[in-house]
Amino acid sequence: MLCPRSVLITGANRGIGLELVRQFLQLETPPKHVFATCRSPGKAEDLHTLAKSNGAVSVLKLDVSDPDSFQGVREEVEALLQGSGLNLLINNAGIISRDDLSAVTIQKMESLFRTNTIGPLFLAKEFLPLIQKAAKASTGLPMSCTKSAIINMTSKVGSMDDNRSGGRYPYRISKAALNMVTKNLSVDLKSDDILSVSLHPGYVKTDMGGPNALITSEQSVQGMINVMAGLDEEKNGLMLDYAGKIIPW
Ligand SMILES: NC(=O)c1ccc[n+]([C@@H]2O[C@H](COP(=O)([O-])OP(=O)(O)OC[C@H]3O[C@@H](n4cnc5c(N)ncnc54)[C@H](OP(=O)(O)O)[C@@H]3O)[C@@H](O)[C@H]2O)c1
Repeated sequence: MLCPRSVLITGANRGIGLELVRQFLQLETPPKHVFATCRSPGKAEDLHTLAKSNGAVSVLKLDVSDPDSFQGVREEVEALLQGSGLNLLINNAGIISRDDLSAVTIQKMESLFRTNTIGPLFLAKEFLPLIQKAAKASTGLPMSCTKSAIINMTSKVGSMDDNRSGGRYPYRISKAALNMVTKNLSVDLKSDDILSVSLHPGYVKTDMGGPNALITSEQSVQGMINVMAGLDEEKNGLMLDYAGKIIPW
């Protein structure tokens, strides 16, 4: 069963992030706190509608490409948690660039690295004391997303094993590096009982995936919620898709 007391989601104003907020609120035992973060809260109408109808949702401003702002967000979250820890951090926000070898630029590489790789790493670092606090509060429970976990939203195109078509330099490389963030965290934080997993949401009909994608965000998130519910020590440090299948690195 998946029943974290608190969850923070980045890029929660649309697409997969917004659907994650919706489905966490529908869990049998929903979180007491859903920190739904986005870079432009003033424009996040759907999120504000959800927050108005459910007191668990706090809409917070967070630009994952600006690590200097993370401390302020952590302080806001810490105040709202009133002494308890953060169970689940979902690094969902991401950007895509499909540049091939002739089009790729240093600026694009830096931009995707900042949002897709550096942001998730430094967010995990900033929130680590709160995640450790959540893990300690449930000493005795096995590793799980209910206890404490960091989920990085990756993409199968970041898999080296799966790469048969090349291209997409900034996106592939930034997600492959994100996978190393996951793997490293899974090694470094295991002794704290904190899980770290990369999840591939599938090819999803969002602004990023486009209308020809294979599944809806409802289907993707339903799958990922099931996968998160089943994560344990054995799955720590893996890349899994929304159906729970292991994707080789
Ligand atoms: N859709 C797919 O088929 C697919 C497949 C594999 C992996 N993924 C991954 O799944 C995640 C979600 O994708 P999606 O399909 O929901 O994409 P999406 O519809 O394009 O939404 C992306 C989200 O990320 C946010 N974001 C981008 N840059 C940000 C920043 N600097 N700070 C904070 N938020 C930022 C966006 O906010 P704004 O509204 O402010 O731009 C938006 O909320 C991404 O990591 C993506 O790489 C998606």
